[in-house]
Amino acid sequence: MKKIIAMFLAFNIAFLCFGGCVSDKPEKPTENVTEETTEIHTEKETTTEAETTTEEPTTEETTTEKETTTKKATTTRKPTTTKKVTTTRRPTTTVPVTEEHVTIDFSDVDCEGIDPDKPMVALTFDDGPSIHTPRLLNIFKKHGGKGTFFVVGNLLEKNKATAKRIVNEGHEIASHGWSHADLSKLSLEKTQEDLLKTHNKIFEITGAEPRIVRPPYGAYNNTVKYASYVCKESIVTWSVDTLDWKTRNADAVYKSVMNSAYDGAIILCHDLHGTTVDAMERVIPDLIEKGYQLVTVSQMLALRKDEVVAGQVYYRG
Ligand code: NI
Repeated sequence: MKKIIAMFLAFNIAFLCFGGCVSDKPEKPTENVTEETTEIHTEKETTTEAETTTEEPTTEETTTEKETTTKKATTTRKPTTTKKVTTTRRPTTTVPVTEEHVTIDFSDVDCEGIDPDKPMVALTFDDGPSIHTPRLLNIFKKHGGKGTFFVVGNLLEKNKATAKRIVNEGHEIASHGWSHADLSKLSLEKTQEDLLKTHNKIFEITGAEPRIVRPPYGAYNNTVKYASYVCKESIVTWSVDTLDWKTRNADAVYKSVMNSAYDGAIILCHDLHGTTVDAMERVIPDLIEKGYQLVTVSQMLALRKDEVVAGQVYYRG
């Protein structure tokens, strides 16, 4: 009997603690705690009475046990509730990234054959892998140079072979989130879930651990920064926008890249569009012809930055 009651109480306490932890709003848990404490007391009083009537010596033991449990319950519940609420809320309002400086290790980025003193550009491709990506990989294979592919997590499973090709052929695979959601509009929990899921899927399929993330629409706030920091990824946007998604015209994309390329540029394109890949047929050999080394973002950051920090934003090398 005693055991059953003790178990019942322990279950209730655990349940109440848990209830307090999941809550997001700081005010609600305080209200709940007061209500719940009252409930516990009522239950305890009833059970103690029941115990007293059965066996006297054991009752003492029981009450001592009970007191300890009640004490524990009160002490653990209160701070846990406050602590949890504070820590989960903080990242959305402040920038915890600056509190802990986490450097991403770029020492194993293969930069062989790249001259850090010569001009370089990073061609980046978002929203794939798509049916056009293999053709783009063939163009790189033919002319040389490497690209960076910011892939959408939920497209990886059906484009496994392409994702593996990206990595095996020396290009960089990076995160563009799981389902192309505007992460700046999501909660920290959802953003973190989105980025971690993508990070892990990329690793599961290709064996490569992404170091960088480009949030969809280039939209980021402190929440996105914090989530990237948790994934040990830094945020990379761009310095040249080809507007390929808008023009959907190979000539326009070609001109846009050729007119705006400069040493250290991070150029935004989308391998989702066949017209962009058409443009690359000329862009890739012509940039090389102009003396640019076509490097991945990580190669550029490894060669041009003293250190790369998780959760920070980079847009050029
Ligand atoms: Ni995108």
